[in-house]
Amino acid sequence: MQKAYIRAVEYYLPASILDNQSLTKHFPEFSSEKILAKTGICERHISAVDEFASDMAVQTARKLLASKVIEIDQVDFLLFCTQTPDYLLPTSACIIQQRLGLPSSIGALDFNLGCSGFIYGLSLAKGLIESGQAHAVLLLTADTYTKLIEPSDKSVRTLFGDGAAATLLVGVKSDTEAIFPVAYGTDGRGAENLCVSGRGMRYSNSDMDPYLRMNGPEIFKFTLDVVPAVIESALHKASIAFDQIELFVFHQANAYMLEHLRKKMNISHDKFWVAMDFCGNTVSSSIPIALKEAQKAGILQHKKRVMLVGFGVGYSWGATVVDLSHWIF
Ligand SMILES: CC(C)(COP(=O)(O)OP(=O)(O)OC[C@H]1O[C@@H](n2cnc3c(N)ncnc32)[C@H](O)[C@@H]1OP(=O)(O)O)[C@@H](O)C(=O)NCCC(=O)NCCS
Repeated sequence: MQKAYIRAVEYYLPASILDNQSLTKHFPEFSSEKILAKTGICERHISAVDEFASDMAVQTARKLLASKVIEIDQVDFLLFCTQTPDYLLPTSACIIQQRLGLPSSIGALDFNLGCSGFIYGLSLAKGLIESGQAHAVLLLTADTYTKLIEPSDKSVRTLFGDGAAATLLVGVKSDTEAIFPVAYGTDGRGAENLCVSGRGMRYSNSDMDPYLRMNGPEIFKFTLDVVPAVIESALHKASIAFDQIELFVFHQANAYMLEHLRKKMNISHDKFWVAMDFCGNTVSSSIPIALKEAQKAGILQHKKRVMLVGFGVGYSWGATVVDLSHWIF
């Protein structure tokens, strides 16, 4: 029986940096220290004017493929998570297939999710591999939210940064799970609380608002409600006890919210990984970026059973336990 295992993770951040000092010039009511204390963020990376989600996805995928963890012609499925595709159509995954030189025999698709996207991507990859439809899935996540931000909107400008991540999942003959059953959540009642209402077909002929709008307090409340429950559900599905989790890696939304969640869930500091000071909230790439940072810091060499939790825009959320024993370090 083939089980899906995470083999490698890489990430890419655009070159241009927006630091707290620069933000204080636009928002003199905020000091650098205040932004850091509230958000946990020092810097965000900003995609260039001519740099889009597929460009960043290609960069990060090339980095992963260059590490020789897999030959390019062994990849047989490409999943691409973005909410800021280059075009309405064609599907960005098709463009990425061509630019990476992946075989034309692969399956490739985009899926539109934000902060829960990595969890759903793992779940789709697991389904493809464990049902025998694919052996090696390249899961790419990339977003250029900063292109959607109104420069004067300090609530979102301080939080979001652009970034991309590549995760390679392969099938391994084994009876042991490495991606445990995923617990999901969806509630479209929160759709307006993180929304770009004026760029889809519904409003394309009117003067609708083209910017990303966020109701921070509502998202905060929603997250405090759903995250504990989805963790409990994922633990139940995996038949794993809370104490058996060695590390919790949540979507890196902002330090204020993460600290509330950590306290509410009674998770000790040494089991709670936060890595967003250098990149901000990178949406669906935040969990793989944080995982890669945990690997670089030597944390994953000792802590292999990890709870991943994504939550946000939609509302959409999900959680799963992963065993990272087969990650090639
Ligand atoms: C956005 C969020 C951090 C705002 O926090 P809040 O406490 O509700 O904010 P308030 O407007 O009540 O302001 C409280 C204080 O924090 C400060 N503050 C709020 N947002 C800030 C920011 N981004 N940077 C620095 N300071 C900030 C305010 O200036 C205020 O300071 P004061 O007490 O000195 O006057 C919080 O609502 C949140 O975490 N929401 C979730 C948003 C999110 O992560 N979305 C991404 C999708 S997952």
